[in-house]
Amino acid sequence: MRVGIIGWRGMVGSVLMERMRAEDDFALIEPTFFSTTQAGLSAPLASHAHALICDANDIAVLSGMDVILTCQGGAYTERVHPRLRAAGWGGYWIDAASSLRMQPEAVIILDPVNRDVIDAALRRGQRDFIGGNCTVSLLLLALAGLFKADLIEWISSMTYQAASGAGAANMRELVAQMAYLGLESGAPIADADAGASILEFDRAIATRLRVAGIPVAEFGQALAGNLIPWIDSDLGTGQSREEWKSGAEANKILDRTERPIAIDGVCVRVGVMRCHSQALTIKLRRPMDAAAVEDVLRGGNSWVRVIQNTRDESMRALTPLAVSGTMDIPIGRIRNLPMGPQYISAFTVGDQLLWGAAEPLRRMLRLIVSGTI
Ligand code: HSE
Repeated sequence: MRVGIIGWRGMVGSVLMERMRAEDDFALIEPTFFSTTQAGLSAPLASHAHALICDANDIAVLSGMDVILTCQGGAYTERVHPRLRAAGWGGYWIDAASSLRMQPEAVIILDPVNRDVIDAALRRGQRDFIGGNCTVSLLLLALAGLFKADLIEWISSMTYQAASGAGAANMRELVAQMAYLGLESGAPIADADAGASILEFDRAIATRLRVAGIPVAEFGQALAGNLIPWIDSDLGTGQSREEWKSGAEANKILDRTERPIAIDGVCVRVGVMRCHSQALTIKLRRPMDAAAVEDVLRGGNSWVRVIQNTRDESMRALTPLAVSGTMDIPIGRIRNLPMGPQYISAFTVGDQLLWGAAEPLRRMLRLIVSGTI
């Protein structure tokens, strides 16, 4: 199959390329690399058809593809997808951007959770397959067992989202802020070592974080030594767009928009590199003890890891750092809450660039080209 790949140099695209190489996906396809800025240069992996990079705005060349796989972003999707479809292109469009997600013709792909929805859409001839919001996908993967058994009445999800979710430049800015703080606070640190007052030390650090010198071009605010309790745009309803997505996308993925599960919470950006965490309060449809919940969660899929609810295990296995760069979806801190026998807590972590972005796309491509994953 002729597969056009767009946005492969960006952060999600680079993770996707790494995963495709690792899983030998290129052996199954004839890739053509497209770019909005590098047309004519050598392709990173020359195919027989196109040894050079093609122009990502060339509808005629794009129309020759059986599949288009794009991580180029929403603006590209909004510009090119309608033109391709209007030109009669009937290929498969696989996309990481949110633009098409809630369109009725589009399927949000997360095959370990909604393979049945994907298969039904393929049988119906649907052609637009869009990766979900990272926080939503990671939540559904962690809780897949409970969703499959229809044991969830509602979820309150309080997120701790990494800088990567905002983009590559934000990851750099977070570390630049940390470096700024480290360098600039050399004197107070030395003073603290020498036994100076902690209140003096704290005042010195807070001053450094507030002054004009700290880089905030991306976040608009210090994230190092701070947090930002708003992600994505303001819907004007008191809810952020990121918070709205949790319920809207999750219920679409689960194919239960007619009888939705209420999912909502507060989405917060924290000074972490690439793993999103979520603290959950879940109301079950019936009383269950924590051990029974753990058993159900274990059966959710091959990536979920139930972490024993102890201090040592939580510190070892349930941190963004422990998960970074892996496909594991740990979930722990599971216990019954005093609100009643139907209420449990949980904490889950996932790599926002892997399962949160690149992996569902890669697996969808594999499903289309080989009929299996
Ligand atoms: N919107 C998410 C975030 C990541 O800002 O963390 C992409 O889904």
